Amino acid sequence: MSDNSQIKEMVRQKYSEIALQDNETNATSCCGSTCCSTEVYNIMNDEYDRLEGYNPDADLKLGCGLPTQFAKIKKGDTVVDLGSGAGNDCFVARHETGESGKVIGIDFTEAMIERARINAEKLNYNNVEFRFGDIEKIPITANMADVVVSNCVMNLVPDKPKAFAEVFRILKPGGHFSISDIVLTGELPERIKNAAEMYAGCVASAIQKNDYLKIIAEAGFKNIALQKEKPIIIPDDILKNYLSDEEVAVYQSNKNIIYSITVYGEKQATCCGPDCC
Ligand SMILES: C[S@@+](CC[C@H](N)C(=O)[O-])C[C@H]1O[C@@H](n2cnc3c(N)ncnc32)[C@H](O)[C@@H]1O
Repeated sequence: MSDNSQIKEMVRQKYSEIALQDNETNATSCCGSTCCSTEVYNIMNDEYDRLEGYNPDADLKLGCGLPTQFAKIKKGDTVVDLGSGAGNDCFVARHETGESGKVIGIDFTEAMIERARINAEKLNYNNVEFRFGDIEKIPITANMADVVVSNCVMNLVPDKPKAFAEVFRILKPGGHFSISDIVLTGELPERIKNAAEMYAGCVASAIQKNDYLKIIAEAGFKNIALQKEKPIIIPDDILKNYLSDEEVAVYQSNKNIIYSITVYGEKQATCCGPDCC
């Protein structure tokens, strides 16, 4: 997989399929000829149902962390969720902002936006909005968000420096982000890297943890911190779709290399005079 627009089209197609399935089918059935991307997600998914504001209709089991739990969202905040899917993190964020705040979900899959809007309508929320758009060119004006969250999405975006530059642009000075994602601490077997299902399932598209943190720092963020780190173990039956029994044994005997992280960063307020900063 190489060309960025081809990658994006493949990702959009996969998530359209998922958005058009019902939740039960999503959690149980196989959606591809070899393996199922949702099956890969189920390994990564964290427990949402304990969070206030959780809406099961919006939970397609596509996340890999709980960014809203760490995002320090306050009443009245404007929160932007990048790659909002069916709105799972937006509705949890809405519980934190209350009626006086605003939550905007961004996604480039029409069927996801449609599903998220239906969920918001059912909940009768008029301060939760879903906008169609690409994270590499977020349809939001500069210096607008208090908090940016995102759950298992940035790894799918081909131009990550551009995506984090966009996060920096839309945050207010003094604002911050809390983003959950999949990263690596070693090399994945070539056949996993080349599998479209594993790409859409956020494994093959993950980059090295150090590179990920470097991109964030180069975008201008300060006080970068890992808020959570959890190893992701892919079961043998999924690996066997891509690797021989022998290769699976070698892979499983090595140190774990796939992690779910939740990372935090601040866009610091600019210096306002000789006595400040
Ligand atoms: C793994 S799912 C996560 C959905 C949601 N965050 C959740 O936890 O339920 C990835 C989502 O990101 C969206 N996405 C991927 N790349 C994107 C991009 N470049 N711009 C906007 N949305 C994107 C997909 O359409 C999909 O809805």
